[in-house]
Amino acid sequence: MSVTIQAQYHEMLEHLATAVLRLAPDTSVGYMNPAAESLLQVSARQALGTPLQRLVPSLAALDYAVRLARERDASYTEREHRLELAGSQSVTVDCTLTPLANGDMLMELEQLDRHLRISRENHLIAQNHAIQELISGLAHEIKNPLGGLRGAAQLLQAELPNPDQREYTGIIIGEADRLRALVNSMLGPDGRPTMEPTNIHRVLERVRQLIEVEAPTGLAIRRDYDPSIPSIPAASDQLIQALLNLTRNAMEAVGEAGCITLQTRTQRRFTIGNTQHSLVACINVIDNGPGIPPESLDRIFYPMITSRAEGTGIGLPIAQMLVNQHGGLIECSSEPGHTVFTVWLPMEATDG
Ligand SMILES: Nc1ncnc2c1ncn2[C@@H]1O[C@H](COP(=O)(O)OP(=O)(O)O)[C@@H](O)[C@H]1O
Ligand SMILES: [Mg+2]
Repeated sequence: MSVTIQAQYHEMLEHLATAVLRLAPDTSVGYMNPAAESLLQVSARQALGTPLQRLVPSLAALDYAVRLARERDASYTEREHRLELAGSQSVTVDCTLTPLANGDMLMELEQLDRHLRISRENHLIAQNHAIQELISGLAHEIKNPLGGLRGAAQLLQAELPNPDQREYTGIIIGEADRLRALVNSMLGPDGRPTMEPTNIHRVLERVRQLIEVEAPTGLAIRRDYDPSIPSIPAASDQLIQALLNLTRNAMEAVGEAGCITLQTRTQRRFTIGNTQHSLVACINVIDNGPGIPPESLDRIFYPMITSRAEGTGIGLPIAQMLVNQHGGLIECSSEPGHTVFTVWLPMEATDG
């Protein structure tokens, strides 16, 4: 091969989005492209000549696949292999091994999580629409009789001979007002929230204030804000409600001496549903409570799913619906001691 053609092939490999490695018979790394460096989080310089399983221990499980490919002298693909990376991150890959003429092995790693994520998001969003219809239907059903209830209590109050009894009608009226405010916040003025440039840190500070009033004394609320995040189009009351629901759940999960972190970040090029955004805001509500069992994770956003005796199971579906109306999405990941609810919000205006 001429030098220029060799250089061209090298250039192509270097720019390939798929992670490619060349392994010697003892599985030491002979070459890795930048996509492999970024996927495996090791630099090529550090990797060259080092056995692969020393760099990424979870790749050692692929040993038998390497042997299989070598014995058959044909490509072999191991599907959906989970790789544990530094910093307790993990990715799922399809790994294709192809024996080369000189006894080396070509390894291609294709990351799957992104695809899995997107199909899961679409599923989540379809599910949200159904929940949203259910909630706004319910809200309308509650709102109509509520007016009558309140009016009747007011008439009764005027008729009551004994002022002591007015305490009871006062409760009816007060609770009717609270329900109406709740229902209105679920519906928005005309079913859609009004979007205005909103500082998400102001929203979070309000949430923190409200939680601190309710919180047990031992609870710590940390802030980890990215101050460079610009205002985003949002209905701040609805965002407060959504984040309040998440933070209150975190507070209920951690107990007396727990810790909650409110964190903000930005993320470039992020797809929510079918829309690709150039920039999204990411708000994490992190707690060190016992976490959510994996078998429950898929269900917690459904209405009426609760593990608490006094729970309603409606906090998360409402939060998801409110964030959804902003063109955003809430996701959750959880392990004991580290539960993260992530609110993704587009930075550009959206029509919901
Ligand atoms: N941060 C968290 N840690 C542990 N479990 C949680 C957390 N957030 C939510 N959950 C689980 O999700 C369930 C549903 O939450 P939610 O919809 O707010 O309803 P509720 O708070 O009324 O139970 C909770 O009962 C709890 O089991
Ligand atoms: Mg709740």
